Amino acid sequence: MKFLFLSILHLLAFPALSKTFTIASPNEMCELKVETNSTLLNYQLSYKGKTVLLPSQLSLQLKGYTKAKWDFDSCSQTKFMNHDWNAVWGQKIQMNDPSNLSVFHFHHPSLGMLKVEFQVFDKALAFRYVLNGKACLQNGVLEAEQTQINVQNDGKAWWAWADYNTQEQLFHETAIQEATWVNTPVTFRNSNGLHLAIHEAALQKYARMTLKRDSKGVFTTDLVPWKNGDLVRFNRSLTSPWRVILVGENASDLLESTIILSLNEPNRIKNTTWIKPISYIGIWWEMHLGTKTWTEGPNHGATTERAKQAINFAATHRVGGVLVEGWNTGWDRWGADSVFDQTTSASDYDLKEIARYAKWKGVELIVHCETGGDAPFFEQRMDSAFALYRRLGIRYVKTGYAGAARPIGEHLFGQGMVEHFQKVVETAAKYELMLDVHECIQPTGLERTWPNLMTGESVRGQEWEAWSAGHPASHTALLPFTRGLAGPMDYTPGIFDVDFSNRKEYTKWNGQEKEGILPRVHTSPIHQMALMVVLYSPLQMAADVISNYEQSQEWKWFLSVFQPDYVNTKILYAEVGGPVVIAREQKNGVWVVGAIGTDKTHEIEFSWDSLHLEEFHQTYVMVENPKHPDQLLLRGAEKKSSTEKVVLQPGGGTVWVIIPRPKRILFDD
Ligand code: NOJ
Ligand code: CA
Repeated sequence: MKFLFLSILHLLAFPALSKTFTIASPNEMCELKVETNSTLLNYQLSYKGKTVLLPSQLSLQLKGYTKAKWDFDSCSQTKFMNHDWNAVWGQKIQMNDPSNLSVFHFHHPSLGMLKVEFQVFDKALAFRYVLNGKACLQNGVLEAEQTQINVQNDGKAWWAWADYNTQEQLFHETAIQEATWVNTPVTFRNSNGLHLAIHEAALQKYARMTLKRDSKGVFTTDLVPWKNGDLVRFNRSLTSPWRVILVGENASDLLESTIILSLNEPNRIKNTTWIKPISYIGIWWEMHLGTKTWTEGPNHGATTERAKQAINFAATHRVGGVLVEGWNTGWDRWGADSVFDQTTSASDYDLKEIARYAKWKGVELIVHCETGGDAPFFEQRMDSAFALYRRLGIRYVKTGYAGAARPIGEHLFGQGMVEHFQKVVETAAKYELMLDVHECIQPTGLERTWPNLMTGESVRGQEWEAWSAGHPASHTALLPFTRGLAGPMDYTPGIFDVDFSNRKEYTKWNGQEKEGILPRVHTSPIHQMALMVVLYSPLQMAADVISNYEQSQEWKWFLSVFQPDYVNTKILYAEVGGPVVIAREQKNGVWVVGAIGTDKTHEIEFSWDSLHLEEFHQTYVMVENPKHPDQLLLRGAEKKSSTEKVVLQPGGGTVWVIIPRPKRILFDD
């Protein structure tokens, strides 16, 4: 009786508004239900009959129109989208992510047309808001995007606290309801076994989202504001990023998803012959260890001589590139405004000569542009800096924003910085430069549209292990299932000398003395090597100093075969919060395979079948030397069966390299 009464009330209040629609994915695995209502609409999602999202309300509020009522016009015919495309580079090259697109049209007398576009994939849902039409506001301001994503509170969540300025954080594993305000990607495993991850795709001219429980305990988008509280400023039209919910039957489904990329616009760079994934070493770890400095002085790291040594090492061991940090002026005033000069070399560093030398040796020079967070100053200098690099034949640039966003009071992840990062990518494309962006907003798939945007940090990376309490092995094991779902990640793995805590040449800085911290890397050298395969980055760093690699035949061998330019990736084992084994097929036909464990011991078994190896492959396995855990052992491996059993020690790992041998010519008898 009570139910009937409520329904009648509902009908009387919104006679023509409430309509229900059901949209299935191409193979009918996901089903979306949408009900239009007085504030806009609510939606819910199921996968093979299991609930994924409970009813979730959408609404937008514009400044000056907080009470605006949108009238529902129509829902378009479902349109099939095949999302069949080839990447310039990636974990794999051929993508195919079919979806069904449905567009809901609303209108408002002064604000024009609002569309909510839904794409239902077999293993995902994506939707976005598009506001345009003649009447849409000039100089409009978005005051609130209240997008609910109502996950079920039964299961586990892996998440990091929401932060408007950093993603260099540890992750938490808790009951889902304990995740109250999170950065994305955030990952869930429901008690019905479904795996979910929430993130955004194609973030442009908008603010980054976090997810916050609203008063009813439902995740609702919370955007990073401008200093004055505006969320997004727009002129005549506003397109939100796609809100993406990935759905998996298991953890591998999440890792294999390419939907975030497929939701981005196609490649805008016509000639892509200059774009190439490479491995790299750097004048880098020594500064984090404090044995060298970014600033000029007796311990300056970036001298012409040291850069040449690094280039020689890279050329000898077939490492693609060399990053040089601290090569320019400004480092001695880090923290002040308008200090970093990305065109003037330090007095003991000759950029022109190093660029020439690197070219002569067939090694790519990666130029570092630290900004200290001062994006407006970098924007003034960017064109001339990029033009100079291009003239010198340089192709790779690493940018960084280690400092507060400017003007002070703005956030590193607000709309202003989203637009800045976009400007840098497009300017770099104009000068045919590839980018590695540190302290960036986490990727949202824009590298499909701008494939010169190679990689980004946005992660608590290796550097933290040099000058802080560091992080446990469970941190790196979780990265593929959390931050890694967003896109390429410059974690900068590959430390061979993991325990430097008592060596006197490593100096403490960054407050370690005060806190009595003895930093060290909390994973083993073999885990570090495996990370180079497991954590995807088309610019993959081997981060240790070259004098350490020099002492290891095994490392030198691995560096010479490892090329992060892949045609295919296979997930051989995956468990969120547990071990992961990933195989990547390089363009030259070599498979590199990395297995990493957590803080516990794991015995796992996986199959090689998906690699379709023929008898003409030679397999090598790299393991920890049981007698000297700080050393590695490389062995030829007999592959007797299609399954592999491995024991992963705490903080441990294993690496396999599978090399095709020239085919034997078989003669008939
Ligand atoms: C932080 C970056 O993540 C790191 O790679 C870089 O060395 C320092 N900033 C200095 O720019
Ligand atoms: Ca950083």
